[in-house]
Amino acid sequence: MDRLEPVKMENEKLVILDQTLLPGEEKYIALSGVGEICDAIKRLKVRGAPAIGVAAAIGIYASMRESHARDLTAFRSEYMEAHEKIRSARPTAVNLMHAMDRMLGVLERSAAENEGRDGAVENILSALRDEAVNIREEDIAACRAMGEHGLKALGGSRTLLTHCNAGALATAGYGTALSPVYVGQERGIDFRVYADETRPLLQGARLTAWELARAGIDVTLICDNMAGALLKSGAVDAVVVGCDRMAANGDGANKIGTMPLAAAAHQFGVPFYMFVPTTTIDLDTKTGADIVIEQRSGDEITGMWYEKPMAPDGVKTYNPAFDVTPAEFITAVVTERGTAYPPYEKSLKEIAGAR
Ligand code: MRU
Repeated sequence: MDRLEPVKMENEKLVILDQTLLPGEEKYIALSGVGEICDAIKRLKVRGAPAIGVAAAIGIYASMRESHARDLTAFRSEYMEAHEKIRSARPTAVNLMHAMDRMLGVLERSAAENEGRDGAVENILSALRDEAVNIREEDIAACRAMGEHGLKALGGSRTLLTHCNAGALATAGYGTALSPVYVGQERGIDFRVYADETRPLLQGARLTAWELARAGIDVTLICDNMAGALLKSGAVDAVVVGCDRMAANGDGANKIGTMPLAAAAHQFGVPFYMFVPTTTIDLDTKTGADIVIEQRSGDEITGMWYEKPMAPDGVKTYNPAFDVTPAEFITAVVTERGTAYPPYEKSLKEIAGAR
């Protein structure tokens, strides 16, 4: 089975696998201009913290390549406008801000080096392109390394429960929490995965179940409210999830529904692993209370996916996209540099302090 490449550069354009069409249709689309890139991020055509960061990096390069600005001042001011728009497309996944800040750093360094030179804009574009390519390649390598470290941390655990989609689709390749499953498969180690469907946007049903089945991995889909009973039954060896932003104390924001899963795992003695590339660790955010949680439209609860509305007209809704799992419920944090254990204030600083 060919490896999924949900976000890539092709013909100097940002190309993504449109995840809103899955599992019905596997369609790649090329995006043009800042408006289309922001819209794709907001509507979750491209989603998952690492994939959003990679898409943003390729996206700003590709959209600036289309710019008609040929002098440095005009180019820079157009760049800053694009930067602000893309950087704020979604608020919780810190990979977006991290990737955009890396790209901005390149713009600034390259602009300073090329001030007053012929071909300044072309040189800056070339430096931006290199950085976007690096960000994508680093993400694939980090995911692969998390698979290796995850396999070690998981020991003999073979039956996993996961929430949302922290697989290949959420990254440039391999995934975070599902990477050990893919790396294991390459080595002849067979995992069984229970996937929470993940209301309201069904990333578990539409994406995790799809990508695991496509890869020939044993996957069983459950509704979110079945996870507690499953954990109590003893059928699950470990819970594996991704993360959108981890604070310095080890509190981790991930898809809404992760926190009660962690609490149930804690209660029933099932190890709970968060897979967190160092680009997702935000040492500037002290605790989970400081993480901004994206609020989304109530239509996702009341009407989406149904042929007719499944709630009374005008009902009030509450639709936070993420929750924060307290560090005390997290058995270990798997990063591309190794696995961190409590106390996280110390271990995360050691592992992610110098990026
Ligand atoms: O709203 P989404 O689909 O972007 O949320 C994705 C998640 O919550 C993932 O678990 C997280 O980004 C980690 S992905 C490797």
